[in-house]
Amino acid sequence: MKILVSGSTGLIGSALVSFLRSQGYEVARLMRERSVRDEQTVYWDIPSGTVETGKLEGLDAVVHLTGVNLGAGRWTVKKKTAFHESRVKATRVLSDAIAGLERPPGVFVSASAVGYYGNRGNEVLYEDSPSGTGFLADLCRQWEDATKPAAAKGIRVVTTRMGVVLSLRGGALAKLLPIFRLGIGGTVGSGDQYMSWIGIDDLVLAFHLCLINENVDGPVNMVAPNPVTNAEFTRTLARVCRRPAVFPVPVWLLKILFGEMAEETLLSSARVLPGKLHDSGFTFRFPELHEALEYVLK
Ligand SMILES: NC(=O)c1ccc[n+]([C@@H]2O[C@H](COP(=O)([O-])OP(=O)(O)OC[C@H]3O[C@@H](n4cnc5c(N)ncnc54)[C@H](OP(=O)(O)O)[C@@H]3O)[C@@H](O)[C@H]2O)c1
Repeated sequence: MKILVSGSTGLIGSALVSFLRSQGYEVARLMRERSVRDEQTVYWDIPSGTVETGKLEGLDAVVHLTGVNLGAGRWTVKKKTAFHESRVKATRVLSDAIAGLERPPGVFVSASAVGYYGNRGNEVLYEDSPSGTGFLADLCRQWEDATKPAAAKGIRVVTTRMGVVLSLRGGALAKLLPIFRLGIGGTVGSGDQYMSWIGIDDLVLAFHLCLINENVDGPVNMVAPNPVTNAEFTRTLARVCRRPAVFPVPVWLLKILFGEMAEETLLSSARVLPGKLHDSGFTFRFPELHEALEYVLK
């Protein structure tokens, strides 16, 4: 199988490329920086919508993982445009490019997020649950919709609605860990908001399943089967770090510091379950949060 990966320099992309190569797959990278010139590198320019389409003929699969980091500070108008361009526009450009090929890939696996569901309290959410409201839910809907040209061409399209990915190399856990290790961690707001999470190793295996299982298509919730409230997450992380976590972060402070970003990520509740992964027979290596954290932090 020859697989093209975009966003291959990122947290998820780099783990996925290493795994796929270790399993003997031929992996090419879709890159924005023209620093490397080899057969395994394909270039694209998202603003102008150009892709080296000649190099896309004959691929078996495309995995698409770009997106400007949503969790780095307040969301300005400029940042929101960048979130949109690097997700919705990028997906449209790539989807159009593969749909226009003479020999298109069999499968297009494209990133999305549990932000699709919005802020939903205790409601249990599966792939067929309706989308929510807010900037992130709108973004995720448009991001998923941008894969339609590929689906219309008959390519199997999977959109991966990922929860918070647990890894030491980046993302939320890498930011929280120094705080918890100092013993100054604590719940965020009421702590009642649900957080859907997945360990990076399980995530990579779930992507692999989507690539090879021809029965999987459409949205797939990529989350562990045991989402937790923020209070449970805080207690578990503190226990694994062997530190207290007694410094709650008040809502008013988060809103002053981070505004809409805080409301839509840190304070938002999404209790998402992996319906399609379960139906496909996927076995989680780390279904429980404490196991996932102990493994990642060991
Ligand atoms: N990590 C999580 O917990 C999580 C959870 C849910 C969803 N996701 C989504 O999954 C995707 C990958 O996540 P990640 O954690 O691997 O992200 P990441 O580490 O921030 O990497 C994202 C990649 O996107 C590309 N990128 C950065 N800025 C860009 C821009 N202005 N235009 C186009 N591409 C740009 C870069 O790849 P190149 O330089 O190679 O192009 C970068 O390596 C993102 O869309 C993210 O929102 C992540």
